[in-house]
Amino acid sequence: MNVRKIINSKGKEKLSMITVYSYFQAKMAEEAGIDLLLVGDSYGNVMLGYENTLPVSMEHLLPVVEAVKRGARNSFIIADMPFMSYQPSESEAIKNACLFMKAGANAVKIEGGVEVASLIKKLTDYGIPVMGHVGLTPQHLNKIGGYFVQGRSEKSIKNLVENVNALEDAGAFAIVLELIVEEVARTLTEELKIPTIGIGSGKYCDGQVLVWHDLLGINTEFKPTFVKRYANLRETIVNALKRYDEEVKSVKFPSDEHSFREVKG
Ligand code: KIV
Ligand code: NA
Repeated sequence: MNVRKIINSKGKEKLSMITVYSYFQAKMAEEAGIDLLLVGDSYGNVMLGYENTLPVSMEHLLPVVEAVKRGARNSFIIADMPFMSYQPSESEAIKNACLFMKAGANAVKIEGGVEVASLIKKLTDYGIPVMGHVGLTPQHLNKIGGYFVQGRSEKSIKNLVENVNALEDAGAFAIVLELIVEEVARTLTEELKIPTIGIGSGKYCDGQVLVWHDLLGINTEFKPTFVKRYANLRETIVNALKRYDEEVKSVKFPSDEHSFREVKG
């Protein structure tokens, strides 16, 4: 997978994307044939237990990108630019994006629209492919005021159209559409020459992305309606841990087969 193939897939084949935060997750996603792996700043929520993505830093995500690269050498890896990694200055943003590329990323993702367009142009000029992200952008949570569906008013729709056009013109190779009314996401997808990757934005997007812990039923504390659970891993894991606990206490584990019983020398 590469940027050219991603752009050429539009209108032909849908793209699958999933978040990964570790070596084995990356390995499994690659084995399953998922098209795009995202080291999302949702790391803050699902791996660190923060309430939002604002506390996530480069220091958190750099070793994760390295681990994901080791697990999925042949996959296309996108690193999420965390809060404060690109806002302070263009040079800091470029430096941080370069650090992700050195760590093994193939591209970075940046939240925002018109206000990040000139940065995206710079990065792509330097050979760093950028994925955009509009709609509900979690790093803007304090401004938005909650996890509200976007594209419900004329003003909001006009904003979205302006933003995605600015991102495409700046050179973004794809755009995540998060929590946008289906018909609006459809219009945006038809408007653009680059693919859209939807999350909670309906079936007309050119691809879909879900968070690992949501898709696999590990995060069962809260289920947004747009999440589909393809497994109930939390239940599976807790049941296995309970059996282990019981077997340790009843001395069923370790049994002879798990022990070294021959004395040698
Ligand atoms: O951080 C993340 O998981 C994301 C996806 C939901 C698009 O940005
Ligand atoms: Na993110």
